[in-house]
Amino acid sequence: MMKKISHIGIAVQNLDENVHLYRDVLGMEFLGTEEVEEQKVKVAMFRIGEARIELLEPTADDSPIAKFLASRGQGMHHICYEVDDVDDSLQQVADSGVRLIDRESRRGAGNSKVGFLHPKSTGGVLVELNSHE
Ligand code: CO
Repeated sequence: MMKKISHIGIAVQNLDENVHLYRDVLGMEFLGTEEVEEQKVKVAMFRIGEARIELLEPTADDSPIAKFLASRGQGMHHICYEVDDVDDSLQQVADSGVRLIDRESRRGAGNSKVGFLHPKSTGGVLVELNSHE
Protein backbone atom coordinates (compact mmCIF):
# COMPACT_ATOMS: atom_id res chain seq x y z
CA MET A 1 0.00 0.00 0.00
CA MET A 2 2.84 2.44 0.88
CA LYS A 3 4.81 3.36 -2.25
CA LYS A 4 7.67 5.44 -0.83
CA ILE A 5 8.57 8.07 1.72
CA SER A 6 7.06 11.29 0.44
CA HIS A 7 8.53 13.62 3.03
CA ILE A 8 9.52 14.14 6.64
CA GLY A 9 7.80 17.01 8.44
CA ILE A 10 9.80 19.12 10.88
CA ALA A 11 8.22 21.75 13.13
CA VAL A 12 10.19 25.01 13.40
CA GLN A 13 9.71 28.37 15.11
CA ASN A 14 11.19 30.40 12.27
CA LEU A 15 10.93 29.29 8.66
CA ASP A 16 13.44 31.82 7.24
CA GLU A 17 16.25 30.77 9.59
CA ASN A 18 15.70 27.15 8.71
CA VAL A 19 15.41 27.79 4.96
CA HIS A 20 18.90 29.27 5.27
CA LEU A 21 20.10 26.15 7.11
CA TYR A 22 18.64 23.59 4.72
CA ARG A 23 19.32 25.48 1.48
CA ASP A 24 22.58 27.33 2.11
CA VAL A 25 24.32 25.24 4.75
CA LEU A 26 23.05 21.71 4.06
CA GLY A 27 22.79 22.41 0.32
CA MET A 28 19.38 20.89 -0.36
CA GLU A 29 17.38 21.93 -3.42
CA PHE A 30 14.81 24.51 -2.23
CA LEU A 31 11.41 23.95 -3.85
CA GLY A 32 9.70 27.02 -2.39
CA THR A 33 7.24 27.97 0.32
CA GLU A 34 3.49 27.71 0.47
CA GLU A 35 0.85 28.66 3.01
CA VAL A 36 -1.67 25.90 3.73
CA GLU A 37 -4.56 27.84 5.25
CA GLU A 38 -6.58 24.78 6.15
CA GLN A 39 -3.79 23.56 8.43
CA LYS A 40 -2.66 27.04 9.57
CA VAL A 41 0.94 26.50 8.56
CA LYS A 42 3.54 27.92 6.23
CA VAL A 43 5.54 25.19 4.57
CA ALA A 44 9.01 25.18 3.00
CA MET A 45 9.94 22.18 0.84
CA PHE A 46 13.36 20.76 -0.06
CA ARG A 47 14.21 17.86 -2.32
CA ILE A 48 16.51 15.16 -0.99
CA GLY A 49 16.74 12.27 -3.43
CA GLU A 50 13.21 11.03 -4.16
CA ALA A 51 11.91 12.38 -0.85
CA ARG A 52 11.44 15.86 0.54
CA ILE A 53 11.94 17.68 3.81
CA GLU A 54 8.91 19.74 4.84
CA LEU A 55 9.54 22.53 7.34
CA LEU A 56 6.39 23.72 9.12
CA GLU A 57 5.92 27.09 10.80
CA PRO A 58 2.57 27.88 12.47
CA THR A 59 0.60 30.88 11.18
CA ALA A 60 -1.83 31.03 14.13
CA ASP A 61 -1.79 30.24 17.85
CA ASP A 62 -4.39 27.51 17.37
CA SER A 63 -2.42 25.82 14.60
CA PRO A 64 -1.65 22.13 15.35
CA ILE A 65 2.02 23.03 14.80
CA ALA A 66 1.84 25.84 17.39
CA LYS A 67 0.46 23.33 19.90
CA PHE A 68 3.21 20.86 19.02
CA LEU A 69 5.94 23.50 19.48
CA ALA A 70 4.46 24.58 22.82
CA SER A 71 4.43 21.06 24.23
CA ARG A 72 7.38 19.35 22.52
CA GLY A 73 9.56 22.10 21.09
CA GLN A 74 11.11 22.13 17.63
CA GLY A 75 11.83 18.83 15.95
CA MET A 76 10.50 15.94 13.91
CA HIS A 77 6.74 16.16 13.58
CA HIS A 78 5.59 13.48 11.12
CA ILE A 79 6.59 11.07 8.39
CA CYS A 80 4.57 10.98 5.19
CA TYR A 81 4.16 7.97 2.93
CA GLU A 82 2.91 8.25 -0.62
CA VAL A 83 -0.05 6.04 -1.56
CA ASP A 84 -2.18 5.70 -4.70
CA ASP A 85 -5.31 7.11 -3.09
CA VAL A 86 -5.46 8.55 0.43
CA ASP A 87 -9.16 7.86 0.92
CA ASP A 88 -8.79 4.18 -0.06
CA SER A 89 -5.80 3.79 2.27
CA LEU A 90 -7.53 5.54 5.20
CA GLN A 91 -10.45 3.17 4.77
CA GLN A 92 -8.16 0.12 4.68
CA VAL A 93 -6.22 1.02 7.83
CA ALA A 94 -9.42 1.99 9.66
CA ASP A 95 -10.87 -1.43 8.77
CA SER A 96 -7.79 -2.97 10.43
CA GLY A 97 -8.56 -1.13 13.67
CA VAL A 98 -6.03 1.69 13.38
CA ARG A 99 -7.22 4.99 14.85
CA LEU A 100 -7.36 7.89 12.41
CA ILE A 101 -7.09 11.63 12.88
CA ASP A 102 -8.73 12.14 9.48
CA ARG A 103 -11.55 9.89 8.43
CA GLU A 104 -11.49 11.54 5.02
CA SER A 105 -8.66 13.21 3.10
CA ARG A 106 -8.16 16.95 3.12
CA ARG A 107 -6.11 19.31 0.99
CA GLY A 108 -2.36 19.43 1.61
CA ALA A 109 0.54 21.37 0.10
CA GLY A 110 1.10 21.23 -3.64
CA ASN A 111 -2.46 20.25 -4.55
CA SER A 112 -2.18 16.88 -2.80
CA LYS A 113 -4.71 14.93 -0.78
CA VAL A 114 -3.53 14.10 2.75
CA GLY A 115 -4.77 12.24 5.80
CA PHE A 116 -3.22 11.52 9.22
CA LEU A 117 -3.22 8.33 11.29
CA HIS A 118 -3.31 8.63 15.08
CA PRO A 119 0.11 8.19 16.74
CA LYS A 120 -1.51 6.09 19.51
CA SER A 121 -2.02 3.40 16.83
CA THR A 122 1.32 3.81 15.06
CA GLY A 123 4.00 3.40 17.73
CA GLY A 124 4.01 7.05 18.72
CA VAL A 125 4.82 8.30 15.22
CA LEU A 126 2.46 10.74 13.53
CA VAL A 127 1.93 9.20 10.08
CA GLU A 128 0.63 11.18 7.11
CA LEU A 129 -0.52 9.61 3.86
CA ASN A 130 -0.58 11.58 0.64
CA SER A 131 -1.53 11.15 -2.98
CA HIS A 132 -1.64 13.48 -5.96
CA GLU A 133 -4.71 13.96 -8.11
CO1 CO B 1 3.44 16.58 5.64
